[in-house]
Amino acid sequence: MRKPTMGAAEENLPPVESVFNPMSSAYCQNPVPQCLALAERGRLVWFAPWQSWIMTQLDDVMDCWKREYLSSDFYDWEYAKPRPPESEWTNFERAMIGHSLLADHTHHRLIRKIVSPAFSRNVVDEIQRRIDPDIKKLYADLGEPESFDFIEKVARHIPFISITRMVGVPEKYWDDIKPCIMKFTEAWNPTLPQERIQAAVDASNRAIDIIIEILAERRKLPHQENDFISVLLKAEETHEDFVEGDIITLILALIGAGADTTLIGQQWTAYSLAKHPEQAQIALSSPEAFTNAFSEVMRWGSPGKMGFARYASEDMELLGQQVRKGQMILLMPHLKNHNPAIFENPEVFDVQRKFDPDVLFGYGPRFCIGASLAKRQLYLSMSEMFKRFPNLSLESEPERDEMDHNSIAFKKLMIKTNL
Ligand code: HEM
Repeated sequence: MRKPTMGAAEENLPPVESVFNPMSSAYCQNPVPQCLALAERGRLVWFAPWQSWIMTQLDDVMDCWKREYLSSDFYDWEYAKPRPPESEWTNFERAMIGHSLLADHTHHRLIRKIVSPAFSRNVVDEIQRRIDPDIKKLYADLGEPESFDFIEKVARHIPFISITRMVGVPEKYWDDIKPCIMKFTEAWNPTLPQERIQAAVDASNRAIDIIIEILAERRKLPHQENDFISVLLKAEETHEDFVEGDIITLILALIGAGADTTLIGQQWTAYSLAKHPEQAQIALSSPEAFTNAFSEVMRWGSPGKMGFARYASEDMELLGQQVRKGQMILLMPHLKNHNPAIFENPEVFDVQRKFDPDVLFGYGPRFCIGASLAKRQLYLSMSEMFKRFPNLSLESEPERDEMDHNSIAFKKLMIKTNL
C-alpha cells in the first residue's frame, strides 16, 4: 500500500490513530475528545487503520454533499470485490451492482425524482397509520412492569415493523423476510467472517424472491393513491427508466439505510429523554418540537463512528492532499457536534437548541429519503412510552456495546416505569 504524502507540520505530530480510535473503549465511553482532536488535525486526514481519508470540517462536507464530486458507488472502492460477470449474478448482485441509488449522479437524481411521490406527506401518513397499532401493541404487551429493557422489548422490533408495514409484506412471509431485515447490512461488511456475510447474502436473496412475489400479487390489484408499493408500481408503468429491479433495489436500500439508524436513533432518544425527563414534555409537545429534539439527541450523544463513505473515481488533489483513484473518503459531519465554536455549552442537552444548518439527515441530492418516516416512527414510539409511563426514569447507566463497528450502541437500556 502506497502511503499518502504528508506535509511537514503533520510529520511532527503523533500518528492520527493515537488520538482517534472509534473502536476503543475510551471512544465508546466518550467520543468527544477524540472527535475534537481529529478535527484539529486538518481538513482531510489520512487514517491508516481504515485505509481511508477523513473529511473533518462541516463546510467541506456540505460542499461535497452539494456538488457530488466524489463517487457513492462502493464498487469504485479500491478494496471492493471485483464485479462478477453478469451471467453469474444472483438476485442480490443484480440489485446491488446496478444499484440505482448509488449509481452515477445523473441516474441517481432521475430515480430520486421518480420515487419522490412514494415519500410524499400522504404516503408517509398512511404508513404511520399502519405502524401506529403495532407500536402501541409493543407497549401494551409490556403490561405494568417495574422496569423493562427498551432495546429488547421495543427498539429492535421497530425496523421490522416499519419495513413490513411500508412494503405491505403479508404475514405469511414474515418469518422468511425477518433475517434479511435484521442482518442486511452484514451482507457487504468486509470486516465480518465470510460465513456470516454469506448468510446475510442468502437471506437477502430469499427476501428479493419474496419481494418479487409480493409485486406480482400487487400488480393484479388496483393501485391506491397513498400506498407505498402502489405508487412505485405506477411509476414502473409510466417511466421506462424505472423497472422492477429499481423497486427491489429501493426497498433493499430502505432496509440497509433505515434499520440500524432507526435502532440507534430509538436507543439514544429513549436514553436522552429518560436522563432529562424535565425536557421530555417539550420534546414531545409536537412533531416539529420532536424533530428539533431528535437533532439534539444525536448531537449530544454523537453515536456515529464511521461517517459516510465516498470514493475517488480518479486521481485528484483534494483539500491540499493527493488522493488516488479508488481511495475511500469518509465524510464526518459529527466531528463538529461538541465544538464550542459551533455550539454554545456543547455538553448541555437542550432540546430547544437551534440548528442552522441541521445536517443530521444529510444535505443536497442525497438527503435522507426516509427522514420524515424516521422522525414519525420515533415520535410515535416515544410519545407512547411517555404516555404509558409518565414518570419513567433510567434504572441505571447502560453498558455500552463496544463491538458495534458503526455506532455507539447500548447492550441493554433498562427503563424504570415508576408506576
Ligand atoms: C433515524 C435516523 C436516520 C438518520 C440520522 C439518517 C441519516 C441519513 C443521512 C445523513 C443520509 C445521507 C448519507 C450520505 O450522504 O451518504 C441518509 C441517506 C439515506 N437514508 Fe437515512 N437516516 C435515518 C433513517 C432512515 C430511514 C428510516 C430510512 C428508510 C426508511 C432511510 C433511508 C435512507 C436512504 C435510502 C438514503 C440514501 C439516499 C440517497 O442516496 O439518495 N434513512 N440518511
